[in-house]
Amino acid sequence: MDITRIMQILNVAELAAIEAAKWNGRGDKSAADAAATEAMREAFNDIDFSGRIVIGEGERDEAPMLFIGEELGRGGEEIDIAVDPLEGTNLCAYNRPNSLTTIACAPRGALLFAPDTYMNKIAAGPALKGKLHIDNTPAENVKAVAEALGKDVSEVNVCILLRDRHKELIQAVRDAGARVRLIDDGDVFGAIATAVPGTGIDLYLGSGGSPEGVLAAAGLKAIGGFFQGRFAFGEDEKAADKRRRAEEMVQGTDLDLDGVLEMDMLVRSDEAVFIACGVTDGEMVEGVRTFEGGSISTHSIVMNSADKTVRFVKNIRRGQSGIIRF
Ligand code: FBP
Repeated sequence: MDITRIMQILNVAELAAIEAAKWNGRGDKSAADAAATEAMREAFNDIDFSGRIVIGEGERDEAPMLFIGEELGRGGEEIDIAVDPLEGTNLCAYNRPNSLTTIACAPRGALLFAPDTYMNKIAAGPALKGKLHIDNTPAENVKAVAEALGKDVSEVNVCILLRDRHKELIQAVRDAGARVRLIDDGDVFGAIATAVPGTGIDLYLGSGGSPEGVLAAAGLKAIGGFFQGRFAFGEDEKAADKRRRAEEMVQGTDLDLDGVLEMDMLVRSDEAVFIACGVTDGEMVEGVRTFEGGSISTHSIVMNSADKTVRFVKNIRRGQSGIIRF
């Protein structure tokens, strides 16, 4: 994907963040999500490409969504798009850190149509590639991280979603001697942060949404990081339905619904771009800021497989008064 296209898509993430940020701290996660989603749709439709949504987050909680299969743009280069227009809707609604707008792009057919179910995940930066496994114990994985990063186990920081289902996992990581960075929401951030210098997060473990898993895998693939997943359909009355839906969605691929999902199965191309723009302030990027005179700043990361970079992009949009003032 050429740099102009990446800038166009970055612009989509920024515009969505600006709209979502108007809802920061207002306690209305649906309104924030809808604002980000609508802004994304409008901005994507302005691009001279043929974008197809393969992941449009929101089905699980019936949030407004960009529909799977929705075609966007004015025509041209064929690109598949995975979005979570507002990752961490509650984080935005309650003004907590690390709410992001997120987009992953790859050539047509490369991104897995992820079923709407949980996925167990393990993610880490490039230094851990080939050194971790989702089936290893937390202690084994933490030890491998310490060795690869040249740290003591007591300095390893593991990000985990604060959920009852993670009680044993959290205990196992602490028992192994590592630290746990608990997050209320937003596991795309948790997984991606492992590969972004300065976040202090070394490893991500635990289960979250499958769509969020594909988005994180795209980012980690883009910069040569590590990601493995496994669908978790659960054992309640909805499990059979979820599995049936998953079977439909992966039709035509040789994916084993119970097997380990390697990064290359989730993102079937070496060409991938991941973009996240901050809505609220966080360890990775700043949130949207408005200044006297109407200037607005956004802060994003762009992970690009073409040069295996993590770019931090701070953008300032000129205010109504015609000057950039901040
Ligand atoms: P939303 O952006 O839809 O609010 O999702 C936030 C999130 O925390 C994701 O990052 C994560 O994958 C998922 O929800 C976890 O789901 P659950 O809240 O059911 O544990």
